[in-house]
Amino acid sequence: MRRIILDVDTGNDDAVAIMMAGLHPEITLLGCTTVAGNLPVANTTENTLRVLHHIGRSDVPVFRGLASPFAPHPFPTPADFVSSATPVHQEELELLPSPVGVQPHTAVEWLVETLRNATEKITLVPVGPLTNIAAAVTLAPEIVDAVDEIVIMGGSASHGNETSQAEFNIFEDPVAAHVVVNAGFDRLTLVTLDATRKARVSAAQCRELEALGTPGATATAQILDYYIRGNSDKALGSAAVHDALCIAYLLDPSVIETARLHVGVDTVGFHTYGRTLIDLTGIGGTAPNASVALGADSAKFFDLLRSTLAA
Ligand code: RIB
Ligand code: CA
Repeated sequence: MRRIILDVDTGNDDAVAIMMAGLHPEITLLGCTTVAGNLPVANTTENTLRVLHHIGRSDVPVFRGLASPFAPHPFPTPADFVSSATPVHQEELELLPSPVGVQPHTAVEWLVETLRNATEKITLVPVGPLTNIAAAVTLAPEIVDAVDEIVIMGGSASHGNETSQAEFNIFEDPVAAHVVVNAGFDRLTLVTLDATRKARVSAAQCRELEALGTPGATATAQILDYYIRGNSDKALGSAAVHDALCIAYLLDPSVIETARLHVGVDTVGFHTYGRTLIDLTGIGGTAPNASVALGADSAKFFDLLRSTLAA
């Protein structure tokens, strides 16, 4: 059993991750903290509440997080900034509003208090910009000791998806990412685009999910249909469900292939701003600080997704 906190910028793939975490019996979802990223934090918070209500998990508390990056972008948007012709994430997911609202505490306050008072270790799963996590460990560095593993969706050892060099979550707040990878977490797993690009769901597989007829599967099919249409690589007729792979990993670690590597973050380059600096050969001589996922088993991922949503 994993006791987890999901930090989300709910958009489409975050929604699928929340449903997997909220539905699987091997996961105790202690709460969701929201952050600006795919959408402004008001939207990511509302979308998170709607997803939890949709799967009958309004009991999971939602805490609104930070609205802007830990450090503002120092440069004008780089020339190679990827802007999708159609919006990739729906401003408001087509799900009923939840009767349960956001909790009164802010995300960072709740993260700090929950981890300070934890009697059992907690798994942190940030799948958006790392702003909340960076703020929490800056306020209370000791909270890393209450975390058994932090599983981050972010970065790339190859090409980016927000610029040619940088992955979205890291690009949105590179200084926060730098703070988090250097915060001293015992076990840091970085699920990069090199892995999530193999965790794709096709339009045909959306039909398979739809046929399950459960609330989670039906919503996932609808959300991913939209995501496939809006995705920059829609020509592939599929979409990488990035955040859901982090939850699939919690259920079956063999779904990803990892290597112990050193990870840094470029917080000063212009063309490389926000790039994860992953030392693939160890030539840098700095001890590894992460288990980096560079591959994934797409069939195993879809089996985990389908079986979890069938509930
Ligand atoms: O690069 C993919 C990541 O950016 C995912 O977490 C997606 O939801 C967006 O936040
Ligand atoms: Ca996300």
